[in-house]
Amino acid sequence: MEEEKTNQLEETRAKIRDVDTRLIDALADRMELIQDIIAYKKETGIPILQPEQEAKQTRELQEQLKDNPFEEEILDVFKYIMKNSRRVQAKALFDYNVFLIGFMGAGKSTIAKELERKLEMQRIEMDELIEKKQGMTIAQIFSEYGEIYFRNLESNCLIELQKIKQAIVSCGGGVVLRPDNAEHMKKNGRIVLLTAEPMTILDRVKGSDTRPILNNHMNVDFIEDLMNQRREKYLAVADVIVSTDHKSTDEICDEIIAKLIAYDREHEKKDAEDKAEGAAEKAEDK
Ligand code: S3P
Repeated sequence: MEEEKTNQLEETRAKIRDVDTRLIDALADRMELIQDIIAYKKETGIPILQPEQEAKQTRELQEQLKDNPFEEEILDVFKYIMKNSRRVQAKALFDYNVFLIGFMGAGKSTIAKELERKLEMQRIEMDELIEKKQGMTIAQIFSEYGEIYFRNLESNCLIELQKIKQAIVSCGGGVVLRPDNAEHMKKNGRIVLLTAEPMTILDRVKGSDTRPILNNHMNVDFIEDLMNQRREKYLAVADVIVSTDHKSTDEICDEIIAKLIAYDREHEKKDAEDKAEGAAEKAEDK
């Protein structure tokens, strides 16, 4: 009797393993279809992120599951499936780091958080990383060791980030001050410059005292002046530029994604042309 029960248990476990195998196959098929959709969207220029489509899918699932005894549990599983589909999308789109640069208050941290959510990509906040490593706030580092010391920490941080792939990196506003920093970023990433008018910047930063450079200078003239001093440096390193004035985070993120895709497409095209030209020249030489 005992033995019979054990056999039955093992049989059921074997059936569960079979179901798991089918689930794995089905999930892999699903992920591949997601890749097909991304390739199609990239080619045709259809917006990559379509939240209304995700909402429609959820409604359809709810309808389909409404008499199912496991409705709640299955819907929960689908939440993870969709979350991971977004990850597959991001991997297909960006096989590099996305560095957000721009003046203080340009929206780097806010946009990085939204991109993290939309794309399920890892997010790195450079200033936070530096603070954690040093066990001090940015303001403390500036006041105890000075700006040059802080800039060294920034450069070291960017060198370390070369080991990381497919992250959204929100940079400190001053990373462009050292030309080498752009080289570190470009080794495995694209640089997205976020811009805003001085008045918008003042509005966004005036309530905070965490930026030593702005403390005691919270006025539009100082901001405009410093922006003018840095403008050329920002523009010189940017692969993609997005203005953030009077736009929602959603619109800004969609614009960043669309512009990065266009940038990559342009470069892929140019690389292919260069290669073809090189091959033609070689053939002529023979
Ligand atoms: C700085 C910008 C700050 C921070 C530091 C210096 C700058 O980062 O790195 O206070 O020189 O522009 P945020 O741009 O994230 O505020």
